[in-house]
Amino acid sequence: MQRKIKLVTIAAILISSTSFVVAADLTKAYEMPDASKLIEKDKLAKATKYTMPKGCVSTDAASIARGEFIFHNLNGKKAKGTPPKGLVKFVEKKGKDGKVKKKAKQYGNCVACHNIEGAKGGGNIGPDLTNYKATFMDSKVRDNAFVFQKIADPRIDNPNTHMTVNLTTKLFTEQEICDLASYVVAEKK
Ligand code: HEC
Repeated sequence: MQRKIKLVTIAAILISSTSFVVAADLTKAYEMPDASKLIEKDKLAKATKYTMPKGCVSTDAASIARGEFIFHNLNGKKAKGTPPKGLVKFVEKKGKDGKVKKKAKQYGNCVACHNIEGAKGGGNIGPDLTNYKATFMDSKVRDNAFVFQKIADPRIDNPNTHMTVNLTTKLFTEQEICDLASYVVAEKK
């Protein structure tokens, strides 16, 4: 019993003394950036309402194919098969050191949250988009502009959305949002 108390006391002394030493060094050992500035930088830009460009959502097979590729893939490094016309797997980006580097192009990975025709392991965080044309478009529950805005910036429709913001963040170009929308509303085989 006595031995136990002694050990506890020694441990307590050790802990308090080491934490004292570490605490004394902290300010010099670490960089202390202004946290509020970092948080400000990481914040998403304000929810933005977009006007859908003319001819955006179309039945053009090439556009639908690009949308499908973006929807089902995470990035160019992981994507299997040749990307459809108008899409690439790798892009060149200037690094901080000024050198141009080849980087995998980012895709949508929409299947992480949505099930849809042909999805392998479609997620269920977002609604099932299978049979979207018949369920939502032909019934006039949704229209092209809604789908475009939802993918571009879903916060306009739902301020508390869990969906990714795709145009305001510049993750995708306007054309790529049109491709995604064209794919979602397209009749699938
Ligand atoms: C992190 C999960 C997540 C990801 C990733 C995601 N979504 Fe969503 N999506 C949602 C949720 C949740 C909703 C339900 C409505 C809301 O909260 O905005 C939704 C709603 C939608 C809708 C509206 C369905 C309707 O008519 O009600 C469409 C279309 C859509 N997503 C397309 C996409 C596309 C295209 C992508 C890929 C670029 C994508 N989503 C990526 C979570 C996600």
